[in-house]
Amino acid sequence: MSGPRFPEGWSIELLDRSHPRQKFKSGNGDVDQWLKKSALQSLKKHLTTTKVLLDDACNIAGYYSLAFSQIDFSDLPADLAKKLPRRQLPVSVLAWLGVDQSFQGRGIGQRLLATSLVDCYEASQTFAFIAVILDCVDTQAKRFYQQFDFAELPGYPMRLYLPFKSLETLAIGG
Ligand SMILES: CC(C)(COP(=O)(O)OP(=O)(O)OC[C@H]1O[C@@H](n2cnc3c(N)ncnc32)[C@H](O)[C@@H]1OP(=O)(O)O)[C@@H](O)C(=O)NCCC(=O)NCCS
Repeated sequence: MSGPRFPEGWSIELLDRSHPRQKFKSGNGDVDQWLKKSALQSLKKHLTTTKVLLDDACNIAGYYSLAFSQIDFSDLPADLAKKLPRRQLPVSVLAWLGVDQSFQGRGIGQRLLATSLVDCYEASQTFAFIAVILDCVDTQAKRFYQQFDFAELPGYPMRLYLPFKSLETLAIGG
């Protein structure tokens, strides 16, 4: 995965009401609706954190939303579960990610994903978790994530996970 470098003049900011979120269009209605209707409220309630990628004219080129959650020991694949306690375990959640249609196909999604994983890794230095998980909105999104070492959770075909070791490798090459 390439490092999170964006074009000159672009920036990543925490979502606020000044960002033109009503204009965002990724091609997936759920991904768009989340940003337009729910992301800001959810951020204010400290349920999720949403960051937007702004181009040099302050258009939203993309965004991602992160949260913490728990996963039950019994839902983990055997290789991840071994040596872990038999209880609910902390995970980081990549809840949403989208790129505006006018910017798709230029490597922005890949770099935004890398940026979100660096955020997850940095958070892990303060609040520990065992993996990053996400729920795919459709099979195309699933193919996108599977390119970057996300694997299926047994019994949940649309839920993917990235073990902490892989997160570390992707985020810091370690
Ligand atoms: C999925 C999405 C984020 C990809 O963003 P993007 O900027 O177009 O992707 P990139 O240009 O960074 O592509 C990176 C790689 O993924 C591949 N890719 C991109 N979209 C893909 C898709 N839908 N399915 C499979 N592979 C995909 C590209 O071919 C590229 O591979 P390559 O480097 O081998 O050429 C974007 O298409 C989008 O927002 N879609 C609608 C919302 C969505 O599905 N979000 C994800 C789930 S919440």
